[in-house]
Amino acid sequence: MPNQLQKNPDVAHFYLRRLHSLLGVIPVSAFLVEHMIANSFILKGPEAYNSVIQALRSLPFLVPLEILLIGFPLAYHSVYGIYITLTGSANTASYSYLRNWMYVLQRVSGIIALVFIAYHVWEFRIASDIYGFEVSYEAVSKALANPWNFAFYSVGLAGTMFHFANGLWLFCITWGITLGPKSQRIAGWIFAVAGLVFFVLAMQTIWAVVQ
Ligand code: HEM
Repeated sequence: MPNQLQKNPDVAHFYLRRLHSLLGVIPVSAFLVEHMIANSFILKGPEAYNSVIQALRSLPFLVPLEILLIGFPLAYHSVYGIYITLTGSANTASYSYLRNWMYVLQRVSGIIALVFIAYHVWEFRIASDIYGFEVSYEAVSKALANPWNFAFYSVGLAGTMFHFANGLWLFCITWGITLGPKSQRIAGWIFAVAGLVFFVLAMQTIWAVVQ
């Protein structure tokens, strides 16, 4: 006997999409905020930043926690995000001009975030373990002193912050938090300001480390 999900693939798609949405906020967006705040200690100088990095790196069960709490959720959100991107189509008839643009930009920024995060994780998490160098203020400064790398980080951060801020706006609609046009407009402004603040903080951080 086929069960409910086998009889109706739309039901499976509904739950898989809800999971994609939920993981985009908890834990992926939550981790992004924590990561931005931890990195902003660069603004307080090498000693402050190095002690934050050391504290984070000495957490017990670090690798299993990273894989379980960040790696798997981000991998699911990314793979399903690519599926959504490849199977969806911009609905010009029923969306406004701005919403259509946001729809396209959400997908483009997701791809930018994927490329950026993959390289960033390789550069400062995996390569450091494989080649045995310590991630520190000095190492980050040296890496970002390369103008190509700095430009890559600037574009990556812009894409990721846009995706994060517009994603939170979409999340509020997906879960029925903002139902009417007025609440969606207010949420739009709140998340636009939040995204901009985080982007400025991120740019200040990478700029400070190369000075
Ligand atoms: C820092 C990493 C990321 C964060 C913080 C993030 C966050 C979010 C959030 C909060 C949403 C809204 C969920 C909803 O629609 O209810 C979302 C949607 C989405 N994300 Fe991500 N995401 C990230 C990375 C990615 C990656 C790597 C991809 C794929 C390449 C991706 C593709 C998508 C897509 C296609 C949507 C659906 C947009 C829609 O329904 O219109 N995301 N993301």
